[in-house]
Amino acid sequence: MVRKLAAGNWKMNGLGANIAELEALVAAPAPECDVLICPPATLMGACVKAAQGKIAIGGQDCHSATSGAHTGDISAQMIHDAGGSYVIVGHSERRTDHNESDADVSAKAKAAIEAGLTAIICLGETEAQRDAGETLDVIGAQLAGSLPEGATAENAVIAYEPIWAIGTGRTPTLEQITEVHDSLRADLCARLGNQGQDMRLLYGGSVKPANAAEIFAIGNVNGALVGGASLKAKDFGDIITALSES
Ligand code: 13P
Repeated sequence: MVRKLAAGNWKMNGLGANIAELEALVAAPAPECDVLICPPATLMGACVKAAQGKIAIGGQDCHSATSGAHTGDISAQMIHDAGGSYVIVGHSERRTDHNESDADVSAKAKAAIEAGLTAIICLGETEAQRDAGETLDVIGAQLAGSLPEGATAENAVIAYEPIWAIGTGRTPTLEQITEVHDSLRADLCARLGNQGQDMRLLYGGSVKPANAAEIFAIGNVNGALVGGASLKAKDFGDIITALSES
């Protein structure tokens, strides 16, 4: 049984002063789940140091190449070298802002795995796709296109983040989350057998202390990918506690 994962995505937020939030999490009693913070790349080294090995640190994106002439990008190998152990790939903000396709996401996840990182592969439908009844088809196609060969329960995590729930304060109903996560689990088992059974499925999109426990009670939810609420140690700490007790 793989341990549950509470992952915080700081997005383009965080200056040196914000490392105090991470330090507060490190000082709290160790939970019964894995905890990850993905700070902006500028803070990765300082966060690795502050985390003292108690909290994992990861990147928010990586290039699919190991090195080369790609101004402004960072590679999975660089994240690993800086002490990171995870990287988020295919976040909807990257898919939208940087036109990333499923093939791009798969190549990034493959590079992450080859560099010794665990790839958090993000999927999610738009509101229009949900309204049109296309959610399971969209999610299934994204999984098929974004999951690289060689993915296992150890080196890959899937995060379901409905785009309309990100940063909006709106969340799907528990039935809607259950439907998507059950579908992802069945798909992963069909593709990967036991590895698919054990691969962690995170829910993301407006997770906060007030709704965390009910979301974590869903069978195929093995953790969360948290944006806004991960910026404050108090809120993220409450979410970690809810996951630890689930
Ligand atoms: P919020 O928790 O701010 O809705 O963001 C979710 C997200 O995009 C995490 O990757």
